[in-house]
Amino acid sequence: MILKASNIYKAYGSLPILKGVDITVDRGEIVSIVGASGAGKSTLLHIIGTLDKPDKGEIYIDDVPIHKLSAKDLSAFRNNHIGFVFQFHHLLPEFSALENVCIPAFIGGAKPHEAEKKGMELLDLLGVADRAHHKPSQLSGGEQQRVSVARALINNPKIILADEPSGNLDSENAAALHKLFFDLRASMGHTFIIVTHNEDLANISDRTVHMKDGNIY
Ligand SMILES: Nc1ncnc2c1ncn2[C@@H]1O[C@H](COP(=O)(O)OP(=O)(O)OP(=O)(O)O)[C@@H](O)[C@H]1O
Ligand SMILES: [Mg+2]
Repeated sequence: MILKASNIYKAYGSLPILKGVDITVDRGEIVSIVGASGAGKSTLLHIIGTLDKPDKGEIYIDDVPIHKLSAKDLSAFRNNHIGFVFQFHHLLPEFSALENVCIPAFIGGAKPHEAEKKGMELLDLLGVADRAHHKPSQLSGGEQQRVSVARALINNPKIILADEPSGNLDSENAAALHKLFFDLRASMGHTFIIVTHNEDLANISDRTVHMKDGNIY
């Protein structure tokens, strides 16, 4: 089991969002999280990804109790083991596509030319190598999305958390991105937890969990 989250509670002010969520995910599994807007899907993903703290609950990733890590250990753990593809791309506007992809590797202490070589391979895999030296503002939404997927993969994370990864893509590009996730799982054993409104993706996932009323079903 790569993820075990138990009894996760989160409220914003007096508004309870997560009410005792339990979720486990196996290594190499591709799980979709679906549910209405405002159900708490992004909130749960941020908590699993250690970007936000639950009010209560325990989270183990690869048997590491991340709820017990110090802020410093947590940021190193996050950078090395978790890849994020956000709902909004969060690419840094002043850096090129390739630089954006390489930043997590630089933070992790990788040698620049090695990071750049791997970054170019990933951009190539995602079909955007010819856009490597463009700034995010010079890329289409779909291209930005693919750059953010490459960035999520650069440190070979154990677990990839994606929030609406195909939300900005046409159906053809969305299908290609979903196929890429399955190819990555097949070749490298990546685990994916994907929040999505895309029914095709939910249908081809190994498992779909539904968020409703602060819990999952
Ligand atoms: N920082 C915050 N402060 C206060 N309320 C918040 C905050 N973040 C999220 N919320 C509220 O928590 C609820 C859940 O938000 P969340 O972003 O997790 O929903 P979601 O399921 O991802 O929705 P969507 O499908 O629209 O992305 C929403 O009602 C939202 O307004
Ligand atoms: Mg969301």
